[in-house]
Amino acid sequence: MEIVTLGNELLRQKAQRIKDINETYRKVAVDMIEALHAGKGIGLAGPQVGLMKRIFVVQVEGDVPRVFINPSIVETSREVVKYEEGCLSLPGLWADVIRPASVRVQAWNEKGRPFTLEAEGILARVILHEYDHLEGILFIDRLPEPKRNRLLEKFEKRKRA
Ligand code: NI
Repeated sequence: MEIVTLGNELLRQKAQRIKDINETYRKVAVDMIEALHAGKGIGLAGPQVGLMKRIFVVQVEGDVPRVFINPSIVETSREVVKYEEGCLSLPGLWADVIRPASVRVQAWNEKGRPFTLEAEGILARVILHEYDHLEGILFIDRLPEPKRNRLLEKFEKRKRA
């Protein structure tokens, strides 16, 4: 699987709900986890591999890979935290992003089984980041404009180099 980067319109489109969680998506999940490991990332969403479907995979250190299909963010904490984020689609860019400290998410796994997960720390962070991808939102969109513009300039410079 090839990971698309900033500038590709797919990253800005809303992903579609998966109507039937079948064998195709079990295979997709395996491939996405492989791409995640290859990219040394902790999360990867469908649109990042050109698949405009509501699926993402995450794996934080010390945890198993987790697959989220048709996820809903049920609840987020009022408490927010600032933490440094990067993105496989924005190579070389890192910035502190403010997000809720914890999240409750409901989704289906690659076997079509529904689950609810309460997450905090890095896991909550990556779930919220990947969920954003399904909505066409990137982490740089959550930064103050001057900071975002600086990062975009940096990205353009790297691309030309
Ligand atoms: Ni990302």
